[in-house]
Amino acid sequence: MRKLIAATTFVGAMFASSAVWAACTTDVKKDDLTAEQANGLYECIKAELREGYAASGDAITKDYTGWKITATAPAAPGAHGRRFLITFANDAAFDEYVKFSDERGPMPVGSILAKESFNVNKKGEVKKGPLFFMTKVAAGGEAKEFGDWVYAAYTPKGKPMKIKQQFCHACHSPYEDQDFLGYPDEDVRLPSN
Ligand code: HEC
Repeated sequence: MRKLIAATTFVGAMFASSAVWAACTTDVKKDDLTAEQANGLYECIKAELREGYAASGDAITKDYTGWKITATAPAAPGAHGRRFLITFANDAAFDEYVKFSDERGPMPVGSILAKESFNVNKKGEVKKGPLFFMTKVAAGGEAKEFGDWVYAAYTPKGKPMKIKQQFCHACHSPYEDQDFLGYPDEDVRLPSN
């Protein structure tokens, strides 16, 4: 299967600037993809994915690509609509976030986590997913009901999604001891400091 992914990546790179989505495909079932194979698919769609998000015109949908990635491969499907997830942390967040502490205090104000997502359908085609954000704001202010986190999301075409803070936060609530952060799958976390 490694061969197939290598070929896929190559074709994807060749057509990265045009919208040849069919090029990003795999014969391996979604749940059986290795980290390496998931990375291959990610490399194949990355440019298109980012172009779509950036179409929003909001600076943050472009700026996050300059932040540090917190995992070694796209996190396996699970939460977030069983999509593959790639989480980025801005400078304010990175050092604290990658401790992946399970009993942390609040993250520094100004911390932002961004999460790209993509999916693989039954036909083995890669599908673009939304871009998610969590921004830490001052304690006891606008987001006091939500652990001082502001949630946001953009469609793959860069359209801001109408989301309810409560919808996002309800699912992040079990992670209260981690300041409501779910963290990438343990298999793909960057080694902690
Ligand atoms: C079904 C439960 C669920 C819902 C609903 C949900 N999340 Fe998450 N979220 C998680 C889990 C679990 C993780 C960690 C998994 C991973 O990144 O691999 C996570 C991770 C994140 C991260 C990366 C930071 C972190 O927690 O480690 C961001 C950013 C994020 N979610 C934003 C959102 C936004 C915005 C919404 C609402 C549109 C939302 N989430 C809704 C469960 C959920």
